[in-house]
Amino acid sequence: MDYVGNGHKFPSTKICLLFKSCFIFFCLFTILFNSKLAAGYAYGARNLASDTPSGFISIDCGANEDYMDNGILYKSDRDFVDTGINQPVSPNISRNLRPQLKNVRSFPEGRRNCYVLKPENGKDNTYLIRASFLYGNYDRKNTTPIFDLYLGSNLWWTVDWDNGYVETLYTPSTDYITVCLFNTSKGVPYISTLELRHLDNTIYRTPARALVTMQRLDIGGRSNLRYPADVYDRIWNPLNVDTLNSSVTNSSISQGNNDAYKIPDTMLRTAAKEQNASCSLIYFWETQSSSAQFYVYFHFAEIEKLVGKKRRLKVDLTGQRNATTNATLDYLKPLSLSLNGTPDNAGQLQFSISAAEGSDLPPLLNGFEIYAAKDMRNASTVPVEADAMMGVKGAFKLIRNWEGDPCFPSELSWSGLTCSNSSASNILSINLSSSNLTGKIPASIANLREITSLDLSNNELTGEVPEFLVNLPNLRNLNLTSNKFTGSVPKALLQRAEAGSLILSVGENPDLCTSLKCPYNLKKYLALIIIACILAVLLPIVVFALVIYKRRRQRENLKREIEERLLKSKNRQVRYSEILLISDNLKTTIGEGGFGKVYYGTLSDKTQVAIKLLSASSRQGSNEFKAEAQILTIVHHRNLVSLIGYCDEAENKALIYEFMPNGNLRKHLSDPNTKALSWMERLQIAVDAAQGLEYLHSGCKPPIIHRDMKTSNILLNERMQAKISDFGLSRVFANESDTHLSTCPAGTFGYVDPLIHLSGNFTKKSDVYSFGVVLFELVTGQPAIIKGEYNIHIVDWAKPFIEEGNIQNIVDPRLEDTAESCSVGKFVELALSCTLPTTAERPDMSDVVSQLIECLKMVQDKMPNMPQITSHRIEEFSYNSIGSESVFSPR
Ligand SMILES: *[C@@H]1O[C@H](CO)[C@@H](O)[C@H](O)[C@H]1NC(C)=O
Ligand SMILES: *[C@@H]1O[C@H](CO)[C@@H](O)[C@H](O)[C@H]1NC(C)=O
Ligand SMILES: *[C@@H]1O[C@H](CO)[C@@H](O)[C@H](O)[C@H]1NC(C)=O
Repeated sequence: MDYVGNGHKFPSTKICLLFKSCFIFFCLFTILFNSKLAAGYAYGARNLASDTPSGFISIDCGANEDYMDNGILYKSDRDFVDTGINQPVSPNISRNLRPQLKNVRSFPEGRRNCYVLKPENGKDNTYLIRASFLYGNYDRKNTTPIFDLYLGSNLWWTVDWDNGYVETLYTPSTDYITVCLFNTSKGVPYISTLELRHLDNTIYRTPARALVTMQRLDIGGRSNLRYPADVYDRIWNPLNVDTLNSSVTNSSISQGNNDAYKIPDTMLRTAAKEQNASCSLIYFWETQSSSAQFYVYFHFAEIEKLVGKKRRLKVDLTGQRNATTNATLDYLKPLSLSLNGTPDNAGQLQFSISAAEGSDLPPLLNGFEIYAAKDMRNASTVPVEADAMMGVKGAFKLIRNWEGDPCFPSELSWSGLTCSNSSASNILSINLSSSNLTGKIPASIANLREITSLDLSNNELTGEVPEFLVNLPNLRNLNLTSNKFTGSVPKALLQRAEAGSLILSVGENPDLCTSLKCPYNLKKYLALIIIACILAVLLPIVVFALVIYKRRRQRENLKREIEERLLKSKNRQVRYSEILLISDNLKTTIGEGGFGKVYYGTLSDKTQVAIKLLSASSRQGSNEFKAEAQILTIVHHRNLVSLIGYCDEAENKALIYEFMPNGNLRKHLSDPNTKALSWMERLQIAVDAAQGLEYLHSGCKPPIIHRDMKTSNILLNERMQAKISDFGLSRVFANESDTHLSTCPAGTFGYVDPLIHLSGNFTKKSDVYSFGVVLFELVTGQPAIIKGEYNIHIVDWAKPFIEEGNIQNIVDPRLEDTAESCSVGKFVELALSCTLPTTAERPDMSDVVSQLIECLKMVQDKMPNMPQITSHRIEEFSYNSIGSESVFSPR
């Protein structure tokens, strides 16, 4: 018999469906209820430790057994993950590590491997989730793997460091949480610990389900704080601000009973304080993003006895008007408040605490947390069905790629599944044909309410064909061909097949009482449809292309005109409409620097330019802007990025620079996808950049102070020659008019000379400091602020090694053995002298240039076989690159 139908629904559906959904709800209810019980049993069991806090799940990945550490029960990860292998980290470092970090679980197989957490409190509660990674050379390959971490179906973080953690406050929409490691072909993913803590839902807002923790700092603290000092096990890192007064009290802070923040007493007992009530506490942080929304939680407690005096604060985030608030502090009472806002165009987030009107005392701050809002509402499989698929996976013991969410991300959806095209996907079909399956058809399939096709043909499945298949309302295709089923096919299925609502194939099951074949074929029609579609799409494209070609020729002619004007005439001003033309309507963004976005443009086929659109925040009058821009267009040096034109219209101000195809130095140092720069290249870049800066300092009159010297402002051309960009921009821009900000430094935290916090003045020597930081980055490959369990400034990190004579420990491992040791020693010494605390002891840029050239010569002498560095790049200064005016103001 053949049961082949055309897929129409058979009559009588309505009542049947109603009944069926009731049944399904009942099933669901039972399953959910049972899984809750199971979760309670598995993770709530506290036979080992009765007093581990409730709402905590603590997993030591790669551990063989459970143990107590610091009042917390850490469990082996056996029950939370199906794949991967345990490995100890290198014994060399293992000794000094916390037990959680002594071993890792690594995942040599599969693109996606996942942990499944089932917190007792279930969905729509807020949890702190923390994943820690300590590479520790566990694979003895000495190469830190890079991989992606997912929370549910949302990219959480790219783990590209060898020691640190990622933490997020997450409000899941499902009762279980998957944490997945994605292999991105850059090494085998690994993980050290996974921790979940249930938080009070009222304190942190998670508008798009997640806040990623960026910083949590205890000002004036001495060491890290976490559980049991912090009942939520938040980790507080100490922040010491030498230049500010810090205050300490021994009195304990009275925790209001209803203060859900539960900020640790130890954290609140230390604070930073301005000495002068007319000064503000200001904090800068480079976020690397100018679009994300950041949530800052400020924590205060008055720790000085104020007799008849009041401390009132004005808290201001980002300088945006809607992000300020006032507060008055009471003695030894905690006060927490939060503000949210976006960073400025340069990606800097800044907050200030100042004395509010009527305050008798300067501002104070005890600690703060910065979170980035992250949209974690990505599409995922309907939770019940995802659970059902976990059941199918478990029953068939499939390995395949069945990890994490079944449908998302779509390129990693489980093989053999098709999913509905919506943000909460249903499973539409399962095809496990020829998959060597044994056993029975798993009952969890009953929960796939939308499934239309189930193909289990060519396996070794046994048992009866289950009745519940009858209750899948949308099932149109059921293929059980070539298995070892026994008994008989349920009558209702046969009836549906006969009625034409189900294509049923049950042949080649020797012990099953029906045998069938199935010839229906859609392919011919599909081919026709596809050809028609292709034609329908292609025709307009051809017409469109012709039109575009004509337009482009017109545009090229116009562009040539602009080029003539910019490169040959004295008037370097262009109109905004012309900017749009050469940038193809701001089509390609190539960067996001200080003061605005940068776009790619072409003048003609040959000349490429970078166009910096200045953000509206420039408050300077048009005349001043024009005057400054005109001056900058005539500052020329081969190590400065040339300004070749500008646009000055009311709302639209722009600067046009020569294009630097190799991007910025920071990228070359930190992006593992770029080829590592050799020591020789780095030295040459240092010499180039130093010469550029020296020219600004002593070749120009009056001297130009860069104020924002950093590796992302050093650009590389096609021959890897380095040029400094963004100089003079602080002159183009007016200072902030707010008085309390005007005394405070601009620039990037990490590069800014620490003394500026005191003086508020930028000098040539503060540029030298920033350049010293650049030199440290060049030799170590590290960023200015090294992130990790503790954030540490590169100079503070490197100094102890240098003082002990262990320079090898800070040299960038990507340099391998190319770093010639004498020159490295001299280089590091120079970097150190540039960053000396007393400005007078720092060299000036001419000294820096000549010392760097000596370093370069040391390398050349040692390696006579090296391709000779073109000597003119060292000896000869060319003041002239574009245009006829050679020097802004000759020495
Ligand atoms: C506080 O700062 C203001 C402005 O910088 C200054 O005029 C004043 O003298 C300072 N007061 C004290 C006590 O240092
Ligand atoms: C299932 O997959 C097999 C081979 O991968 C294919 O031959 C078969 O047509 C598929 N079944 C369905 C229902 O798409
Ligand atoms: C069922 O599976 C068998 C074996 O994979 C295949 O030959 C047959 O065409 C399938 N039937 C249908 C209706 O897809």
